[in-house]
Amino acid sequence: MENLIKLGQAYVMSTYNRFPIVLVRGEGCRVWDAEGKEYLDFVAGLAVCNLGHCHPKVVAAIREQAGKLLHVSNLYWIEPQIKLAELLCRNSFADKVFFCNSGAEANEAAIKLARKYAKESRGASCYEIITMRGSFHGRTMATLTATAQEKFHKGFEPLLPGFKYVPYGDLETVRQTIGPETAAIMVEPIQGEGGVNLPPEGYLQGLRKICDEHQILLILDEVQTGMGRTGKLFAYEHYGIEPDIMTLAKGLGGGVAIGAMLAKDSIAKALAPGTHAATFGGNPLACAAGVVSLTTILEDDVLGNTRQMGEYLREQLQGLAGKYDFISEVRGKGLMMGMELKIEGRPIVAKCLKLGLLINCTADKVLRFLPPLIAGKPEIDEMLERLDFGLYRNPPSKKAKTSLVL
Ligand SMILES: Cc1ncc(COP(=O)(O)O)c(C=O)c1O
Repeated sequence: MENLIKLGQAYVMSTYNRFPIVLVRGEGCRVWDAEGKEYLDFVAGLAVCNLGHCHPKVVAAIREQAGKLLHVSNLYWIEPQIKLAELLCRNSFADKVFFCNSGAEANEAAIKLARKYAKESRGASCYEIITMRGSFHGRTMATLTATAQEKFHKGFEPLLPGFKYVPYGDLETVRQTIGPETAAIMVEPIQGEGGVNLPPEGYLQGLRKICDEHQILLILDEVQTGMGRTGKLFAYEHYGIEPDIMTLAKGLGGGVAIGAMLAKDSIAKALAPGTHAATFGGNPLACAAGVVSLTTILEDDVLGNTRQMGEYLREQLQGLAGKYDFISEVRGKGLMMGMELKIEGRPIVAKCLKLGLLINCTADKVLRFLPPLIAGKPEIDEMLERLDFGLYRNPPSKKAKTSLVL
């Protein structure tokens, strides 16, 4: 494994701060490294592997599609793409879907659609998009600019014109920021990378109302919250509202790269032929994986399991919060859970890794738990046992058990 890592360091650009393991195999909620060590995976490719690793139905569908047709141009109709678009529309607010390959690309498409629609319906000077502090929308220039966190902007200026930032959860500042040039408000229903931040009561409904009053589009970035992650297929369903545009990626392809931008027909029309495209967008392989993933989420009560196990995970994490005084809060929805610490989270993540548990830390101090949505009590209990050891050792806490020796 060491040699592989050395090769990686020599040839792969160092855009990631990687942990020193090479993962080579996965099944369900577990992955194995190149030396055969097993890990319980509560990262799930950062909310990608919602059905777990190598779900048999997903693998079978990919195998079948790979033997039939891998790629053709969007100059022609593509059967699995049509099927996935229909499934997404039948199960959401949307009438039309544009397919691409990632979350950033889906958000780029949403930004372009919002600008085009607003310019055509309200005038050429209407192009501004309001986004929320702490948000994360991707790493392309437009989505990086939409991401209202300066740490991601550093060194890449000048940013794209036409974005304004407001604090997440603050409706009054949104009202004060809107002008005749405002085309859309773009928001994650629950902020993921920003630290698993839940919307305050009435916030998303308030944004919807403001958008309606000012003829502004509401874009929901459900790249992380979508595809069942929060216990509903899409997080907006928890809040009794519908967006005008929604973006998806991560869990959409059961582990295969795919992104999608969904919209109501009246808005989607603004992207006429030739105005937007993606060579690989909606390719047969990714869409076949998408069809089987979405069908499995719906037919196998994955949403029910996510809600039930989400509550269980929350209770158990709160139990740990009562035990360690450096845990300040447990928050989240479904199986998107965060544990805010008063200390840096990365050393704990590194210790958990040694203990055979993959978790993630975001916003420096928030441990994030994104297990496959098929995780049951045995996996959660096993995770908690390992996490308890990981937390115990770093740092020693007054309230922690002192008899536990590793
Ligand atoms: C809410 C949200 N939007 C967009 C993205 C970007 O997705 P991708 O990395 O697929 O471009 C992410 C990635 O973490 C995300 O969490």
